[in-house]
Amino acid sequence: MDKNELVNELARRRGFLWPAFELYGGAAGFYDYGPLGAPLKRRIEDIWRQYFVISEGFAEIEAPTIGVEGIYQASGHLSGFSDPLTSCKECKEIYRADHLIKHIIEVPDALSNEEIYKCIQDNEIGCPECGGELSEVYEFNLMFKTMIGPGNKMAGYLRPETAQGMFINFPRLLRYFRDSLPFAAVQIGKSFRNEISPRQGVIRLREFTQAEAEIFIDPRDKSHPRFAEIADIKMKFYSQAAQEKGEEEEMTFGEAAQRGVVAHQALAYYVARTYQFLLAVGVAADKLRFRQHKSDEMAHYAADCWDAEVFLDRLGWIEIVGVADRTDYDLVAHAQASRVNLSVFVHYDQPVKRKKLVIKPDYKALGPRFKARAKAVGEALKALSPEELEASRGDKIYLTIEGERIEIDSSLVSFESVEEEIRGEEVVPHVIEPSFGIDRIIYTVLDHSFYQDDVEGEMRSVLRFNPAVAPIEVAVLPLMDRKELSDPARAIVQELRSSGMRVDYDASGSIGRRYRRNDEIGTPFDITVDYEIREHGTVTIRDRDSMKQIKVSRRQIADKLSALLAGRIKFEDAGEPVALGKKE
Ligand code: ATP
Ligand code: GLY
Repeated sequence: MDKNELVNELARRRGFLWPAFELYGGAAGFYDYGPLGAPLKRRIEDIWRQYFVISEGFAEIEAPTIGVEGIYQASGHLSGFSDPLTSCKECKEIYRADHLIKHIIEVPDALSNEEIYKCIQDNEIGCPECGGELSEVYEFNLMFKTMIGPGNKMAGYLRPETAQGMFINFPRLLRYFRDSLPFAAVQIGKSFRNEISPRQGVIRLREFTQAEAEIFIDPRDKSHPRFAEIADIKMKFYSQAAQEKGEEEEMTFGEAAQRGVVAHQALAYYVARTYQFLLAVGVAADKLRFRQHKSDEMAHYAADCWDAEVFLDRLGWIEIVGVADRTDYDLVAHAQASRVNLSVFVHYDQPVKRKKLVIKPDYKALGPRFKARAKAVGEALKALSPEELEASRGDKIYLTIEGERIEIDSSLVSFESVEEEIRGEEVVPHVIEPSFGIDRIIYTVLDHSFYQDDVEGEMRSVLRFNPAVAPIEVAVLPLMDRKELSDPARAIVQELRSSGMRVDYDASGSIGRRYRRNDEIGTPFDITVDYEIREHGTVTIRDRDSMKQIKVSRRQIADKLSALLAGRIKFEDAGEPVALGKKE
């Protein structure tokens, strides 16, 4: 078995990930999170909340997963959210066409359907199943459609991204944030895409979890107040230019923003936060890079986009997060479709004085000429925009009153230049969007933390989880399943659970086997309860990675473990080392 198979087998056998609906034959693209997978997912989501809700002061909301048609008409998903598809003329199997040429073209998303088809033909690519001839390439919309209520009157779509929930709540969010920019809202929740050929486990699902932040910024100011905090972090940037050379460029975020490798500070800041979060949950730094989208690869709404890509065994480089500058695309689209103003009045620090041309209608002259309509003509003249006024000086002025076009000689009005005080202006915010695929991150954490080592001639499998994501933090293991050991062991379990730790009790099988079982699911610490607890009031704590053990007094277990789990003390400093001979 290669690493990919080992990780998948472990994930299935130990209850991290299960193919869904197995009892009824299963369906591709759906997975269950089992008793270890669900807490792993929850803990990763909680760390995400630490980074993108608590630390940033963003607001978490929860919108419905079904959306009405108008949303997706305006957002462009109805017309543009599709993937290229081809099918086998012999066996009728259906494939995502761009995936079939990935080994030939590095970024096939940039090609048109005709170009993909030509590439398939030129390279004589046949059906991966039966070798048959493949059809022309055509578009397939990825949204799941449903009907809302009886009578087929109202169409609805399962959301393909959580983002739209934030956009369409923009006016309420703006009020919540007291009408000032910048502000941001986030959601963690399910998204749905009717993927064409979901064959890569949880990497490509038809129902998956996204964690997305929509950060609304003033388009005139793309700096970031906390940029200095991340400016010195070094990372590998795979920019458009670096992709031309075929080599990532390592530099600090400060340098990347200054050299324009990343377009502006606001975008660079959220790429950096994404980088920090991914490392915190256990993505390996040497298998992570940020790749900038090519201009013809960008989603329909994006002006710039950086994908966090991870290297996975067998699968190669895979996108797990996209950080996009969505500009004002969505707000403009929803404002047009809903006819609701989605701009923000931004106050200047200091009011600005500006000369303005105003028109003064000469009612004595307008009265006899326009009679009952003179007042309406006067009002229409006063309402002319500065540009219209400028254009009409010394010439004719044209107005439309009650549908009738009226010509006025400019000698009937006078112009005056007045100074006005401008306190601010209306702007449509731009949006920076970090969009995380939680399932892909979970798979990456499994893949990057998995390793095997040889312990005294026996292969040990380990998930080297960061304690902050481990589904079980501590396993309590009585040396033997006897009352005099199991009673105190159960008491320790209860005490640790009461202080908030995720604890498992395991008394079955040899102690060595129990250590292996816990190593394999990533439990950072095991507590072994043996007769020392009766004789000296001590237990041993075993460290998963080094397999070393220390002796700790019964009374100090909870304090020591919480310090160890939080990384406040080193394992060697937490207790008296146990002699090597007694190691396992
Ligand atoms: P891909 O090109 O791999 O289909 P994408 O570019 O369509 O991905 P985005 O639309 O940018 O992905 O979605 C944002 C994030 O949501 C991705 O980075 C990914 O982690 C996650 N995601 C998207 N589609 C799926 C899916 N079918 N299954 C699991 N996660 C997904
Ligand atoms: N919200 C970005 C995406 O899902 O594509």
